Amino acid sequence: MSPEFSEQTKKKIKEVISRYPRMEASLLPVLHLTQQEFGYLPEEAERAVAKMLRIKPVRVREAVTFYTMLHSQKKGKYHIQVCSNLTCSILGAEKLIDYLRNKLKIEPGETTADSKFTLSTVECLGACEAAPCMQINFDYYGNLDKKRIDSILESLD
Ligand code: FES
Repeated sequence: MSPEFSEQTKKKIKEVISRYPRMEASLLPVLHLTQQEFGYLPEEAERAVAKMLRIKPVRVREAVTFYTMLHSQKKGKYHIQVCSNLTCSILGAEKLIDYLRNKLKIEPGETTADSKFTLSTVECLGACEAAPCMQINFDYYGNLDKKRIDSILESLD
């Protein structure tokens, strides 16, 4: 069954596709728009994108499974992505990830029972100067310690 795209998203997708010399080249922006529409990329949405761009579904699957910003599973309202790369690790990321695991009672890749938080570990967020750091949805938070994490999570409704 094909997912229902809103008229607004259909219009945006059409506009994005028109910017590229080949439809296939618009795959990533089209996937981002599709994810914005549904909150994640269910299999039906992947198939719809493949059909739209006239490419094999496996090409879409490859992109969705390669890029960590694309999600084939529903996420919580707040997606906490903690950097576990070198600089952040040296400055204590593992301890902060453990702290979040215990605080939220979930493992990386899981979502809390109330669907409020999803916890992930990710590669370098490109904000090493503020290590250790994390991203929650589209916002960055750096120079983290347990106290700062508590205050950030408390500020989220
Ligand atoms: S290593 Fe963590 S932001 Fe670069």
